[in-house]
Amino acid sequence: MTLLDSLSRTVPKHLATRKISLVSNFNNQSKAASSSSSNQLHHKQHSSNSYQLLSNSIQNNSKKFASSSLKTYFSKSSALIQTAADNDSNMNNNTSRFNHYSIGTVYEIADLPLSPITLKMIMSFGKTINQQTLVGASYWLKDELPKRLARQVKQLDTLPHGLNLMPSIRKVRELYLSSFNDVMMYNELLSKGRDEGLQFTRKLQDIYERHQSTIINVAKGVYELKTKMKESIFKNSPTFDFSEYSDLHASLDSFHINRIGMRTIIGQHLCLHEQAHQPRKGFIGLVQMETNPAHVAQQAIEHASDLCRMTYGTAPKVIIKGDTSIVFPYVPSYLYYILFELLKNSMRATVENHNHADLPPIVITISAANDVKLREHVCVKISDEGKGIPRRDLHKIWTHLYTTAANNVDMLNDDSYSELNGPFCGFGYGLPLSRLFAQYWGGDLQLMTMEGNGTDCYLYLHCLGETEEVIH
Ligand SMILES: Nc1ncnc2c1ncn2[C@@H]1O[C@H](COP(=O)(O)OP(=O)(O)O)[C@@H](O)[C@H]1O
Ligand SMILES: [Mg+2]
Repeated sequence: MTLLDSLSRTVPKHLATRKISLVSNFNNQSKAASSSSSNQLHHKQHSSNSYQLLSNSIQNNSKKFASSSLKTYFSKSSALIQTAADNDSNMNNNTSRFNHYSIGTVYEIADLPLSPITLKMIMSFGKTINQQTLVGASYWLKDELPKRLARQVKQLDTLPHGLNLMPSIRKVRELYLSSFNDVMMYNELLSKGRDEGLQFTRKLQDIYERHQSTIINVAKGVYELKTKMKESIFKNSPTFDFSEYSDLHASLDSFHINRIGMRTIIGQHLCLHEQAHQPRKGFIGLVQMETNPAHVAQQAIEHASDLCRMTYGTAPKVIIKGDTSIVFPYVPSYLYYILFELLKNSMRATVENHNHADLPPIVITISAANDVKLREHVCVKISDEGKGIPRRDLHKIWTHLYTTAANNVDMLNDDSYSELNGPFCGFGYGLPLSRLFAQYWGGDLQLMTMEGNGTDCYLYLHCLGETEEVIH
């Protein structure tokens, strides 16, 4: 299976036998949420407990390290790296056996400036794939990747409210540290001309796969914190509202958008390698030169409808309207992710709001400026006649782990779920992650809703390929 196939693989076979229950157990909570704000304040003051103090001390440590250049760092520690590389030339494990770098060094590298890419840049770079361009890509990655990996480690260490101490977050952090070690060692091999990029590329493949479950593991970590807060700080008070911790949700957004950036540069490199042997018509790495939103929507509709039927025994029709011929360069797997998430939400809202025999269709409208020369954005609107979202809950929908479906911890602990194989609903990160995927290339996602009437989601996609990737 090619990397592109695996990126667009979506319908999990195991779901054919899975029954997902949909009990809206958060409705009562949200009703009570507005009733006692003073009570909440009192509880929040108690959040300075021991794990909060430990969390602060980790965060303060991270601020101590000033930035320096990657080059300076390499000249200081090349002997150490060389020994490590010699010892570990046969590194096929999923995690590094040694941690060769002090956390101070990791933080120093995390503070170095990044080199953001644009779609245009990666398209012009990958236009002609040959040994030389591939080695060139390896050289760029060997400088860029350690900074991005180190930034993720630091980001995880500085997650607020004790989230940085949750067991699942620590696991994710260890994996990033392993990848950082791996890249730094291969970095040195490349610099010494001992690898023409092939070993490095294999290592990148390992790293890409190693971080496959990051989204779920981070969600588990958030769930661990949420449970801890709810039980030990708020004593299961119905006034507990996790969405109020806006700094925490903003930090998670930063972590996830940086992750998208990192997977884009690694994924692009791996795809180019693959396409050097097996060219894929119309593609430069992950980028499809003529991405057609109507075509991508069609695939998302098929898979979301299958899942909806497995979950509810029925699925609403989806109609595509507007300019179905629009094409522009984009990463179709990212567009697919967003549309798939939005469609699942609209299907659930429709099925739960109507008699199964009489489901109103969901309408997808695609549009852009009539004059092609004036086109900056393509807009895709997804409209449903579902139950809508109460105004009092609107601020929660972009926060992590907010869901009105049964948020079943067993689902989070089920290893058969992955980034691309989630349940129909219930993890509560479909909307925030979809918005980040849209924002990454300079687009956006907005939602308008009328309770009892339906919801419109507006997806704006930047179509000129000129905006720099959004990374923090
Ligand atoms: N189209 C929609 N109509 C009604 N409610 C919606 C719609 N989209 C999202 N929501 C609400 O937002 C919540 C969060 O959505 P999401 O982030 O996709 O997580 P999940 O689908 O796992 O619950 C949903 O549980 C639902 O209450
Ligand atoms: Mg969803």
